[in-house]
Amino acid sequence: MQISGSKGIFVGGASGMCRATAEIFAAKGGKVAILDLEKSDGANTAKALGGTFHPCNVMDYEGMEKVIGEAVAALGGVHFCVNTAGGGAAIRTLGKDGQKHPLDVFQRVIDLNLIASFNVNRVVAEHMAKNEPNEEGERGVMINTASIAAFEGQIGQVAYSAAKGGIAAMTLTMARDLGAVGIRVMTIAPSLFDTGLTKGIPDAGAAQLTKDCAFPRRMGKPNEFAVMAIAIFECAMMNGSTLRVDAGQRFAPR
Ligand SMILES: NC(=O)c1ccc[n+]([C@@H]2O[C@H](COP(=O)([O-])OP(=O)(O)OC[C@H]3O[C@@H](n4cnc5c(N)ncnc54)[C@H](O)[C@@H]3O)[C@@H](O)[C@H]2O)c1
Repeated sequence: MQISGSKGIFVGGASGMCRATAEIFAAKGGKVAILDLEKSDGANTAKALGGTFHPCNVMDYEGMEKVIGEAVAALGGVHFCVNTAGGGAAIRTLGKDGQKHPLDVFQRVIDLNLIASFNVNRVVAEHMAKNEPNEEGERGVMINTASIAAFEGQIGQVAYSAAKGGIAAMTLTMARDLGAVGIRVMTIAPSLFDTGLTKGIPDAGAAQLTKDCAFPRRMGKPNEFAVMAIAIFECAMMNGSTLRVDAGQRFAPR
């Protein structure tokens, strides 16, 4: 799909990887709507990119229908949706103190990552399906965010791995579901990236966490997620897969 003249919704777009994607999309002539928490930098981001800001919480599933509807109305349609809102917890299935993992924490991580992503997808798909298809029959592209922890979660990442694994697993099925209407679905699985989520990690900690990278042995930059997301939007053959963007890293158990 061509970015110039296209419209994109960026959920988590006030910061990090999603913001970097919105920046390229806007620079290439796309129109952007930033969806993020009220307390985020969404208003400033939208202003800088000539777009609109729509405060939201992805865990408010019903509320998201309204917010996405408003964003689509402000844009005049939607061709691209990138969603990075998410996060995890660091708790073992059974702690060293013998305490079992609280079920409510596990549920919350699933809700925030998996259920919320699917909710965004199903609502956005309903809007995208109304687009006039381009000459290839394409109506839109949706990208979710997993993590390499979907495939090799570290000790303490059991809820996060389950949630991100769910996002990866639903990608092909959703792409098949939506193929009939010309909507492509992809997932990006990053390794450790230098974003708002990881800003508390000291340099020594980052070096430890990236020691298993093949090359380059460092954290990813938000722009390195963004160029992949933009390539996915532009390349009609990209569909139904989870792409690792990870410098060849495979997480060790800890
Ligand atoms: N940074 C990493 O190392 C890394 C690695 C693998 C996967 N991820 C995934 O990437 C995503 C985080 O993106 P980032 O690293 O660019 O972080 P980030 O903190 O810079 O950006 C995430 C944005 O999402 C927003 N957000 C969080 N919860 C939200 C909610 N409930 N409703 C609406 N918006 C919400 C935040 O306000 C923030 O602006 C998460 O899904 C995370 O699991 C990050």
